[in-house]
Amino acid sequence: MSKNIILGVTGGITVYKAADLCSKLVSAGFDVRVIMTRNALQLISSQLFLTLSKNRVLTDLFAEYQPVPEHVSWAVWADALVVAPCTANFIGKFASGIADDALTTTALSFRGKILLAPTMNEQMWNSPILQDNLAKLSRLLDVRTVDSGNGKGGMAETDDIFHAIHALTE
Ligand SMILES: Cc1cc2nc3c(=O)[nH]c(=O)nc-3n(C[C@H](O)[C@H](O)[C@H](O)COP(=O)(O)O)c2cc1C
Repeated sequence: MSKNIILGVTGGITVYKAADLCSKLVSAGFDVRVIMTRNALQLISSQLFLTLSKNRVLTDLFAEYQPVPEHVSWAVWADALVVAPCTANFIGKFASGIADDALTTTALSFRGKILLAPTMNEQMWNSPILQDNLAKLSRLLDVRTVDSGNGKGGMAETDDIFHAIHALTE
């Protein structure tokens, strides 16, 4: 059965891994819709995800008029929301209920399973604020995280994220 995934792409340096992940998901039969933050667009083009996902990429809440805004219709459509790479900024905004762009607004509207693949430097990762934000998210929502496991904030390998998504959507 085809599974619907929203892939949120934020402005982390490991953003190139998101392209590989998108490609692997589509090859495995997932229907993938990508939402990019403004800062992710500084690092990588939306054209890449448009081509890989074969779906339009959402970058701007107000880009075009839709009878049902896409942060609502996409949130209903998706079986899972995966944010990879996931910045400290996204985690902070999500944990605080901030909805100031397409990705955070969709995330706040979404009620299903969520997987975060954090990526950041060791100092950010060890910030008590960051750790508290992650703990808050997993306390309140069905949020899992997948990381490199070295305790330094490194992003998980693409295959590990891919397997975590499989486990999430089984
Ligand atoms: C080259 C570059 C790489 C960055 N990599 C990361 C990163 O890996 N993790 C992170 O949390 N922030 C990183 N940042 C900082 C974020 O881009 C910044 O916090 C931004 O506000 C994130 O916005 P977004 O979460 O809306 O994409 C990086 C910034 C630059 C300029």
